[in-house]
Amino acid sequence: MLKIVDMKGKPKLRREAAELYAEIFKEKPWSENFRPEEVMIRMGEQCDGISPSIMLASVKYGFKRRKVVGFSWLYEIFQDDLKEGTRYSPELKFLFGGKKRVFYFQEVGTKKEYRRKGIGEKVIRKILKKAKRAGANSIVLSTNSNAKAARALFSKVGFKDSGIVRPATTPKELDRTYWILELEN
Ligand SMILES: CC(C)(COP(=O)(O)OP(=O)(O)OC[C@H]1O[C@@H](n2cnc3c(N)ncnc32)[C@H](O)[C@@H]1OP(=O)(O)O)[C@@H](O)C(=O)NCCC(=O)NCCS
Repeated sequence: MLKIVDMKGKPKLRREAAELYAEIFKEKPWSENFRPEEVMIRMGEQCDGISPSIMLASVKYGFKRRKVVGFSWLYEIFQDDLKEGTRYSPELKFLFGGKKRVFYFQEVGTKKEYRRKGIGEKVIRKILKKAKRAGANSIVLSTNSNAKAARALFSKVGFKDSGIVRPATTPKELDRTYWILELEN
């Protein structure tokens, strides 16, 4: 049985999700080498602050054991966060017009053996619904042109590639473009 559950206040689930994150982002095109500890720290920095955030894990429940097979998280960003050289480009300023609230979709991943079973779509649809309920007017993410599966998933749930470039901030990082989903509230 698969359930999408809140990771907040659940350190064991978070730890497992961070381990899965490190495993998944070793894959191409990302070819990253994260340690689960640093992923845990980043999760905390992005989601445990005062701004609203949502962290979900996809969990498979077996006879005796449960296993994290996917994750996703997002958080609110503010106009003051938009700075060159960060993941939030000043070019995103237009999204904040008329006191609009913007959330940054940070991550989504499904364990390799569990892909193409609808898990990624389920978690993303749930997180978007929760973000809308929390008052988001638009959701932004950034991704690389070689991340084919992710791009297809983002298109399917309504994101559009804005063409605005987010340059790599380290030599290892890939160039990305921002994708935007406007929500009707
Ligand atoms: C992107 C990812 C989360 C998709 O997870 P998933 O659980 O396999 O996705 P789903 O089974 O829910 O697929 C939903 C839709 O996404 C698209 N999709 C998913 N995988 C795809 C693939 N390999 N090729 C083409 N389209 C794909 C399809 O439109 C699919 O709908 P369909 O099954 O009706 O055709 C997964 O491939 C992954 O973890 N990739 C590595 C991490 C990553 O790149 N994250 C994004 C960083 S920006």
